[in-house]
Amino acid sequence: MTEINMDKELRNGIKISAKEILNSKYIIASTGAGISTESGIPDFRGPGGAWRSIGGLIKMVVKTPTAKPNPGHYALAELEKIGILKCLITQNIDNLHRAAGSRNVIEFHGNMYKLRCTKCNTRFGIFDFGAMRAHRSRCKGIVKPDTVMFGEPIPPDALQNAFDEAERCDCLIVAGTSSVVYPAAALIPRAKRNNARIIEVNAEETGMTRSVSDHFLKGKTGEILPSLVDEIKRLKEVK
Ligand code: APR
Repeated sequence: MTEINMDKELRNGIKISAKEILNSKYIIASTGAGISTESGIPDFRGPGGAWRSIGGLIKMVVKTPTAKPNPGHYALAELEKIGILKCLITQNIDNLHRAAGSRNVIEFHGNMYKLRCTKCNTRFGIFDFGAMRAHRSRCKGIVKPDTVMFGEPIPPDALQNAFDEAERCDCLIVAGTSSVVYPAAALIPRAKRNNARIIEVNAEETGMTRSVSDHFLKGKTGEILPSLVDEIKRLKEVK
C-alpha cells in the first residue's frame, strides 16, 4: 500500500476494489480531466476549473504542453503492463496516459499532438510531414487537429471502439471525471447494463456515485490509483 495518510474507510474500499478487480475477467478504465490536475492542468468543472474561471482556462492552455504524467497515469499504465487493464478510454487530449506508458488507449476527444483526416480517420503526429504527404497522395479528406471541437462528432472509430469495450467489460474503473458530458458519460451505464462492476475514483461525488457506482473511492487519483495497484499486486503475490 502506498504510504499516504488514508482514512480507514478509504483503505478498506481500496482492498475491496482490488479484490473486485482480481475477480473480474475484462477490466477497462475511463478517465477525465481530474486525473491530470495533479500534473498541474486544471480540470473543467472542479474548483478552479477551466469552465469556472478565465484563470483556470489560461492555466490549462499554458500548463498542458509542458505537463508530465503523475502517479495516477503511471498506475493505470502499470495495471496494463501487468495484464490486468485491457483498455483505457480517456476524455483527455493531453497525451499523458501515452506518455506514462499506456498503450491500449482510446482518446475519445482526440489528442492535441495529432492531426486527423475527417474522411478516412487516419491520424498522424502534428509534425509528421512525411505521413501527411503520403496521406495526401491517396486521400483528399480535410486534415484537422485531432482534438474534438464543441459541436463536432466524436471520431467514429473512437466512439465505436469505446462502446464495444464498455459492452465487453465486467469491471470499469472510472477516474477523475464528473461524468456529465455525453456520449463519454454513457459508457458507464452501458457497462452497468451488462452487470459490470463500477469502481469510481474521484475527489467528489458525481451523478453516478449513488446511482451507478458499486464502489466510490473518494480522494486524489494520484494517491488512490497507485494504492489500488499496490494492493492488486500484493493480492496477486499471495494468490
Ligand atoms: N483526483 C480525483 N478527482 C479529481 C482530481 C484529482 N486529483 N482533480 C479533480 N478531480 C475531479 C473533479 O472533482 C471533477 O469531479 O475530477 C472531475 C473532473 O470533472 P470535469 O472537470 O468535468 O472534467 P471531465 O469530466 O473530464 O469533463 C469532460 O467536458 O468540457 C468537456 O471536453 C471537455 O473532456 C472534457 C469533458
